[in-house]
Amino acid sequence: PGPAARDMMRGFRMIRANPLRYLEQTRARYGDLVAFPVPGPPALLLSDPDDVRQVLQTSARHWTKDTVQYRALGRVTGPGLLASSEPNWIEHRRAAAPAFHHQRLDAVGAQIADATDAALKDWPSAPQVLDVAPLTLQLAMDVVGRTLLSADLSIHAQRLLEATNSAAKLIVRLGRAVVPVPPSWPTPLNRRLATARRNLDALCLDLIETRRGTAAGDDLLGLLIDSGLSDQEIRDELVTMIVAGHETVAASLAWTLMLLAEDESAQERVRAEARGLTGPVCMTATAGQAPWTRAVVDETLRLYPPAWVISRRSRQPDRIGGHDVPPGTTAIISPWLLHRRTESWPAPEDFRPERFLQQSGPRADYLPFGIGPRLCIGREFALGEMVIVLFRILADYRLQVPAGWSRPRPEALIAAHPHGGMPLTVTPV
Ligand code: HEM
Repeated sequence: PGPAARDMMRGFRMIRANPLRYLEQTRARYGDLVAFPVPGPPALLLSDPDDVRQVLQTSARHWTKDTVQYRALGRVTGPGLLASSEPNWIEHRRAAAPAFHHQRLDAVGAQIADATDAALKDWPSAPQVLDVAPLTLQLAMDVVGRTLLSADLSIHAQRLLEATNSAAKLIVRLGRAVVPVPPSWPTPLNRRLATARRNLDALCLDLIETRRGTAAGDDLLGLLIDSGLSDQEIRDELVTMIVAGHETVAASLAWTLMLLAEDESAQERVRAEARGLTGPVCMTATAGQAPWTRAVVDETLRLYPPAWVISRRSRQPDRIGGHDVPPGTTAIISPWLLHRRTESWPAPEDFRPERFLQQSGPRADYLPFGIGPRLCIGREFALGEMVIVLFRILADYRLQVPAGWSRPRPEALIAAHPHGGMPLTVTPV
């Protein structure tokens, strides 16, 4: 089942205006396996966890990232880890992996705490309504700089945030274009994308050049330089990590702060956990050390998964949901939808961190970080970072929703951000 071709123009308009609502309505109407009437091989929206596991995990080698979504992202990141559809992706992953190993992660916890303290210096000393969304973006960017590049990105922060932000918006427009335009055509969109890319290039090449003149170091940048990759390949990985590593974490933090402002007893439990901790947070052991806070983070990522859509294209014939599908089939998988399946999550719109207090193994109906071989390389980094930042903020501040509160709606860009910001009342405790 799926929409008829004549309904697709209306569908395109809605995809542009509110893609999350469109996905919800499409699944509600047609079920767990939806075929879109596109020219050529079919495009399928998959919401059955078994089909999802098959595409992302068990048959992963037959499904590539050669899709509209990742081609658009690749226009800015180049074939970096996230967008790469090439088999040599695994070599790049191996080169970057030591930067995310347990020992290394546990060593960077203190840098994340320092970055948070630096950000909190400007927070008010009396109750005030503060838009926390831009603050989380700046903080997450600062963390990427300190921990992965040993660089102070704050001096470039404004330029970098502007470049990534405008690149992100352009990537989204490209990904939603009804008629794909070749990259070489001098359209306004292509020209603006080239400018955003040039800005990111200049900054990254500067970072690489500066580092080549010194000892390599065991952070991500040092590892990439040591691994013998070319400057262009390292540049692609840096842009990838900057884009993938700051927007996602920033959006998740903003949503978490909102949910805790709405639920003061959940917030109080986080504060109690923060105060009860005797030593520093161990980035890789947050589930044991701070079970409630980790459950809060896990539940936020269920309700507001920053990576709201994931796509793949089949290299060869496969069978999905009992149907044969030809090579070239596009699979669209939406964590936003899977995390709202009533079959998996009773009262799916409710914020109930206790769902995650019982540990369970990997499941295909909960995939904020993806599953299978292309699982997010920054998963543990992000989870540890969020717990540290929340502990630091809530130890010193109480959060409440301002008068006349209504939740910002999620705006589905590269990550799902709060549209129009996240104004919360912060009061020193
Ligand atoms: C991959 C989500 C944080 C770097 C992914 C994927 C998801 C995801 C869903 C898989 C995409 C797919 O299968 O198509 C998230 C979320 C984050 C987060 C929700 C934060 C809450 C980070 C951080 C970094 C990072 C902090 C790095 C600093 C990457 C990279 C990949 C990736 C490089 C590609 C891995 C590969 O294909 O080998 N992320 N991510 N992410 N993520 Fe994250």
